[in-house]
Amino acid sequence: MANITIFDHPLIKHKITLLRDKATGTKDFRTLIEEIAMLMGYEALRDLPLEEIEVETPICKTTAPVVSGKKLAVVPILRAGLGMVSGILALVPSAKVGHIGMYRDEVTHIPHEYYCKLPDNIGDRTIIVLDPMLATGGSAVDAVNLIKERGGKHIKFMSIIAAPEGLKALSEAHPDVEIYCGNLDEKLNENAYIVPGLGDAGDRIFGTK
Ligand code: PRP
Ligand code: URA
Repeated sequence: MANITIFDHPLIKHKITLLRDKATGTKDFRTLIEEIAMLMGYEALRDLPLEEIEVETPICKTTAPVVSGKKLAVVPILRAGLGMVSGILALVPSAKVGHIGMYRDEVTHIPHEYYCKLPDNIGDRTIIVLDPMLATGGSAVDAVNLIKERGGKHIKFMSIIAAPEGLKALSEAHPDVEIYCGNLDEKLNENAYIVPGLGDAGDRIFGTK
């Protein structure tokens, strides 16, 4: 049974509403994507490994935990996932970053891979895959397949808006992946866009059409 978290925090809801607004311009859109990723990351990274270090307080020497950031791999799905990376790196600056390039065919909506570069020792890392949109789920399912083929095991997937169709597809294909969604929307339309959604995330982040 897949482990799915749909966020209900008021700050995340508020910021997603601003993202949806077609009047929100590129600069604010980027900032919101980054902020939401950071808020979601705070929860999604709850089980990050810790290591003990020695520290000297004004009172005495002791050992205390620090996040083992080198054990985290952040993997955005290009392009739109790139917008979420800085939000996660603000929390864990020493995380390694991989990239998976995917685009959806405009007619068939089938994803095509064009790039994949992952950090070394991927099997030893917690991997957090980033993409603001989980629509049909095709891109997410294929991205996780690629990561698993290269040895990735402990995988989390984070999207800001999901459609029921995409959530079902990803959780059925990869029941071991922990899924985090900022909001579960109503449905897909005939062009496989999320309704009500926010439009084309990549175009809105990068100011393209
Ligand atoms: C968008 C989005 C996801 C994908 C989701 O990317 O960022 O990667 O579509 O759709 P799916 O769940 O139906 O696969 P797109 O293919 O538009 O590429 P882009 O980010 O480069 O614009
Ligand atoms: N990709 C997007 O950017 N938006 C959608 O609604 C669906 C796929």
